[in-house]
Amino acid sequence: MTVARQEGVGRLVVVGIGLIGGSLALGLKAASGCREVIGVARRVEICEQAVALGIADRAVTDVREVLPELEAGDVIFVSVPTLTVEAIFAQLKDQLPAGVTVTDGASVKGSVIAAARKVWGEVPEFLVPGHPIAGSEQSGVTAARDDLYIAHRIILTPAESTGAAHLGRIDAMWRAVGAEVLTMPVAEHDEVLAATSHLPHVIAYGLVDTLAHDAENENIFRYAAGGFRDFTRIASSDPVMWRDIMLANRDAILKSIDLYTSNLEALRGAIASGDSEHLMGVFTRAKAARDHFTKMLAKKAYTETMEVKDVTFVAHPGGAVNGELRVPGDKSMSHRSIMLGSLAEGVTEVEGFLEGEDALATLQAFRDMGVVIEGPHNGRVTIHGVGMNGLQAPPGPLYVGNSGTSMRLLAGLLAGQQFDVTLTGDESLSKRPMNRVANPLREMGAVVETGEGGRPPLKIRGGKTLKGIDYALPMASAQVKSCVLLAGLYAEGDTSTTEPAPTRDHTERMLAGFGYDVRRDGARASVTGGGTLTACHIDVPADISSATFFMVAASIAPGSDVLLEHVGINPTRDGAINILRAMGADITLQNQREVGGEPVADIRVRYAPLKGIRIPEDQVPLAIDEFPAIFVAAACAEGETVLTGAEELRVKESDRIQAMADGLKVLGINAEPTPDGIVIQGRGGQGSAEIFAGGEVDSLGDHRIAMSFAVAALRAGAEIRILHCANVATSFPNFAELAGRAGMKLTVS
Ligand code: S3P
Repeated sequence: MTVARQEGVGRLVVVGIGLIGGSLALGLKAASGCREVIGVARRVEICEQAVALGIADRAVTDVREVLPELEAGDVIFVSVPTLTVEAIFAQLKDQLPAGVTVTDGASVKGSVIAAARKVWGEVPEFLVPGHPIAGSEQSGVTAARDDLYIAHRIILTPAESTGAAHLGRIDAMWRAVGAEVLTMPVAEHDEVLAATSHLPHVIAYGLVDTLAHDAENENIFRYAAGGFRDFTRIASSDPVMWRDIMLANRDAILKSIDLYTSNLEALRGAIASGDSEHLMGVFTRAKAARDHFTKMLAKKAYTETMEVKDVTFVAHPGGAVNGELRVPGDKSMSHRSIMLGSLAEGVTEVEGFLEGEDALATLQAFRDMGVVIEGPHNGRVTIHGVGMNGLQAPPGPLYVGNSGTSMRLLAGLLAGQQFDVTLTGDESLSKRPMNRVANPLREMGAVVETGEGGRPPLKIRGGKTLKGIDYALPMASAQVKSCVLLAGLYAEGDTSTTEPAPTRDHTERMLAGFGYDVRRDGARASVTGGGTLTACHIDVPADISSATFFMVAASIAPGSDVLLEHVGINPTRDGAINILRAMGADITLQNQREVGGEPVADIRVRYAPLKGIRIPEDQVPLAIDEFPAIFVAAACAEGETVLTGAEELRVKESDRIQAMADGLKVLGINAEPTPDGIVIQGRGGQGSAEIFAGGEVDSLGDHRIAMSFAVAALRAGAEIRILHCANVATSFPNFAELAGRAGMKLTVS
């Protein structure tokens, strides 16, 4: 449907001049969007009021009186109760001059189309059915306001036969009063409105009426507090209008009522039988949905933060880091705790869970697949496992934001389900390679489609029989290994992975913690499909990847001495400690212990002068996420640091080799990228406190690049502005606060 661009409205005739029509008239007048407003109301007093209030320039009691004087470009807005629309159309029928546009504001569009067909025998080209999604419980012409439609939505439901010029005129008219205009098919409009507006009105009217008729219960109203008042506010809307809507949108409303009734029955049953899990399921899902809705309205939902919220870090120069800090929980383990906890038999309790956007994306995905998950509250999450075959088809695509781990590990798990599912991500994730997981899954018999060039979205078909494979990983990737092993839980026979170099083994360890037999032999890990997982308690230690920013900060800033508490030091993750120590860093591990199958320690780091090194390639997978911070350390070291064998860095949340080289150059560091690494000329040992010049760098929306440049400011001569930092919330939501507490001077704008 084309929308022709239009000049303003000529005359506006409002038939039924109340809140809705009166507010359009006032808004258009305020925007100088029409030449004259003619009000139409059956009662003379209303006509007089409309004129007295300045809403209409003149008013009549029957629209037929003014039809002869109308001309092309004029608009008639029919704003009467839904079931009266047909009578007004009948009045227009014989005398409507050519070129006049007719539109309406009724809440049900199917009945308007039916009325038009009855009167004109077809949907005439001058009719543009519409519905302003705005209003208040107040009604009548005295309630009209010129700002009612600002930032509100207007849904137009043009028919095939609607003329482009007429549609363009109505589109422009609503935009002139500040509204956002959308178009939608009639049936879709009526179903959406039945669920989101008409059903809530049925419930509110019904509830108040039930209580009002309970004569014994006058106390109910006396004591009814905020909840009741908020919930039933809409029961004081105009009864005639709502009666009409119920009759006009009968079928769609009945469908919504039936769905709601069956949910209410199930809730009743759960309350009667004391089924606390069912209650928690309904309440936590509803709370998550409602919170999401609130954030969406405030433009804060995590799905939108990536695009909408633009965060800049301003890192002021100088300072040192001191004190005892606990950085947030390990991201890799947090993801896996939700996945395995959801598939386990029984209730899994997690402590230390990372409340960052990546892990929350995984959590939301499992909620969408019907798992009851309580929390997170201060890092505590309770997962009511549904068993290996208990997941349900999600209502739509699973959106995992910026999180590669969610997408790749979920792909493995979902390949073994009975339902189809689509995985989507944000702009950065949508550029990352997915064939590395799609290929082995296909070898197992899964049906997986990727987007163009092997990128997301991933479409995974359910109901396929998977067969175990023996997979030699082409790259050192824990995500690929984990994906294959998780699919292996659902495959016939044995599934094995062999990795070219050791990568993080949290999947293997956590599977064992859930009682699943994982056989490990050097670089090879194997599982046999068809087993079960048993719920357990998981204590997620602090993330060594997040701790690394403070390890580097303390190492480069004279006067620093920090204790990083309860950090996971799994030998597949400790590359940063080894590399920094080889550069001369003063790092000691205290209070080493094992917690839930993972080694943990408190890490003390004191300032020490660093020297450049050639980074051993066997350390690369063990420090894969820590290189942006290590590059900052290298810039502060004396002499050259050379990294090779790290081409994987080019396919992380950004091309981390290029992004860091670009930023370091801006800050005056000689940093040369190579295809698989970087060569950095350190500026330490030159007797200068200032290693980095100030300047503006772009983190490219990559959390670890953003935090690394914030750390660099400790040795900068002037402020470093770091652009596009919103995604720090994916792994380290309280970074700025902790950095400030430790002594860094970081402001966020
Ligand atoms: C992760 C594995 C690594 C890492 C990522 C988390 C995991 O990715 O970079 O941040 O949790 O398995 P690759 O497996 O792609 O190297």
